[in-house]
This record gives sequence, structure tokens and C-alpha cells, in this order.
Amino acid sequence: MGKILLTGGTGFIGSHTAVKVIESGYDVVIADDLSNSDASVKGRIERITGKGVSFYQVDVADSAAMEEIFDAHEIDAVIHFAGYKAVGESVVRPLAYYRNNLDTALTLLETMQRHGCKSFIFSSSATVYSPANDVPFTEESEDLGCTNPYGWTKFMIEQILKDVCKADPEMSVVLLRYFNPIGAHASGLIGENPSGVPNNLMPYITQVAQGIRPHLNVFGDDYPTHDGTGVRDYIHVVDLAAGHVAALEYCTAHKGCEVFNLGTGQGYSVLDLVKTFERVNGVEIPYEITDRRAGDIAVSYADVSKAREVLGWKAEKGIEDMCRDAWRWQQSL
Ligand code: UD1
Repeated sequence: MGKILLTGGTGFIGSHTAVKVIESGYDVVIADDLSNSDASVKGRIERITGKGVSFYQVDVADSAAMEEIFDAHEIDAVIHFAGYKAVGESVVRPLAYYRNNLDTALTLLETMQRHGCKSFIFSSSATVYSPANDVPFTEESEDLGCTNPYGWTKFMIEQILKDVCKADPEMSVVLLRYFNPIGAHASGLIGENPSGVPNNLMPYITQVAQGIRPHLNVFGDDYPTHDGTGVRDYIHVVDLAAGHVAALEYCTAHKGCEVFNLGTGQGYSVLDLVKTFERVNGVEIPYEITDRRAGDIAVSYADVSKAREVLGWKAEKGIEDMCRDAWRWQQSL
């Protein structure tokens, strides 16, 4: 079937995608510096799939290290997850974000070019959509600027990839714009484990459920939404992972650069998520309403018709599955 390099393959989305890619018959090579993930994840992926994974602890911006991987393996396609991803931190440390995220992408593309590897799938984000666009966001929504340096790195790498495709008609690139991935693998063996205070909603909720934090701060209840709290398109990480397999198949059959939203197309508010979590898991999530978080938008959800029509992919799992699986994972920690 082929050999796929996953950069950032021990991270939250990378590890779930590694499992799906292996289950679809591909061999997987992972390159990850473990700066935001754990060395045990490789073994956990192997336990779930019953297959071996080649793992390299390297910085993807290290050209010599990447060269060694491409010398040792005939890589058919690359899925690039590695990168810094905290929005707030990117505002405080913009140079670190631009340096790291752009360097890793450029080094990877140069290495691929030297080795004649032409298929590339990129972890982009709904954050490239300016809130000045109407919801649902479609792949054709206007480029009206990003709200933070993290988002700009995604935007810039998308542009680099579009230019690379123009220069080399043999290239096949898929840009995947993720909405809000949550949940965890049903085995309870892999999931999201942020270090320090979680920035994102679901890991915060699961830590409150476990008593690690006393209550959830709900960032604003005066948005123009059904209950005043922010609305997002939460997608189960296992569905998101399956979207990458669909993108791999698309990549092998098409050339050029295509962009797809990966979401469910359904918006849920912060309180919808809290209440569903309480109901399906039988736990209480105490919360307090606080001020809005700077940079947050009221509503974000995807138009998912392009992925459905072109990739033949759609999300299967609902918000209840996401809440159950996230809680099972938290309890295993
Ligand atoms: C954030 C990033 C986005 C990134 C995504 C990764 C921002 C502005 N955007 O999306 O670029 O791709 O994470 O998953 O940070 N909330 C609370 N209390 C909390 C945490 C969150 O009320 O303690 C609310 C937020 O106001 C928002 C919703 O929950 O309405 C989701 O927040 P979060 O999980 O951080 O995701 P985004 O902000 O949508």
C-alpha cells in the first residue's frame, strides 16, 4: 500500500491518525521531537493496531535528521502535524511560532523534493477563517486575515504549498482545515494530555470532572448564540483521523492543491457541551461565567459538503461519543 511519514505522529491528532492509517494497510514512520507528547505513545499505537511503527525522535527542522529518515525509508506520502499550536502563546512569542512552524514545513518540503516524494497532507486549521466571514465557513470563504500568529503560520504554509504545486505539476497536496477536535480513542490508550493548565475547553472539562480543577470558567455568556456562550464545531478525533486516510487516497489519484474542511457541520455551545458531558458521564461540572477571552469569536462551524462530495468522508460520531471517550481517557491518566 505504501509508507507514510507522520511528523508530530505522537501528538493528539497525529497518534489517532497513525492508528487509522495503519488500520488502512499503510506502514507508518513517525518523526516527533516529543516536545509536546510522550515516548509511550509509540507503544500504545502498536498495541492498538498490532503492527510495528518506525519512530525517530527528531526536530523536523533538522535537515540532516530528515535526510536520514528519507534515506532509510521509501516515503510515499507525508502527513505534517508537527508544529506549535497554542494561540495565546503565539501572541506572546510570535518569532518562535513563525520560526518553528515555517522552518519545519520548509525543511520537510525541501527533503521531499530531494527524494522525489510528491504527496503532502497538511494540518491546517479553521483559524485561517476570518470571523468577518459568515458561518458556516466554506473553503471559498474570503481571506480576510487571521487573528493571531499561530493562525498566520497555518495561512502562510498553505500559501507556500499552493506555490509549490504551481511550480511542480507532479505535486499532490491536501490542506485539511480542522474545526475543534476532541474525544479520544475508544481503547482509552491514546488521547489529549496537555501539560499545565489546558487552553481548550474539553481537556479543561475533563480535569474539572476529575477534581484536578475546582470549576470551569465559561468565557462569556453574552454572545449572539442560543444560550449566549460560544458555539463551535466539535469533531471526534477518530473521525478527523479517518479524514486523513480519505485525503491520502485522494492524494494518490489527483495532482495539484485542494483544501477541505474537516468538521461535523454542527455547532454546539460551551453549555451544550458541559450539559451533555454531565448527562452521559453522570458527573457534575461546576462552572462560573467570566469575561470573554480575548480573540474568541461567537460562532464557528464548517460547511462540510466538499469533503463529503469529493473525499467521500463525513464525521460519524456525535457529541455524546466525544464526551464519553474524553472522560474514559481522562480517567486512565
Ligand atoms: C482554539 C484556537 C484555534 C485552534 C483550536 C485547537 C483560539 C482563539 N482558537 O479554538 O485556533 O485551532 O483551539 O483546538 O484560541 N472556553 C471556555 N472556557 C475554557 C476554554 C474554552 O469557555 O476554559 C470556550 C471558548 O470561549 C470557546 C469554546 O470554549 O467558545 C472552545 O474553546 P477552545 O477549545 O479553546 O477552542 P477555540 O477557541 O475554538
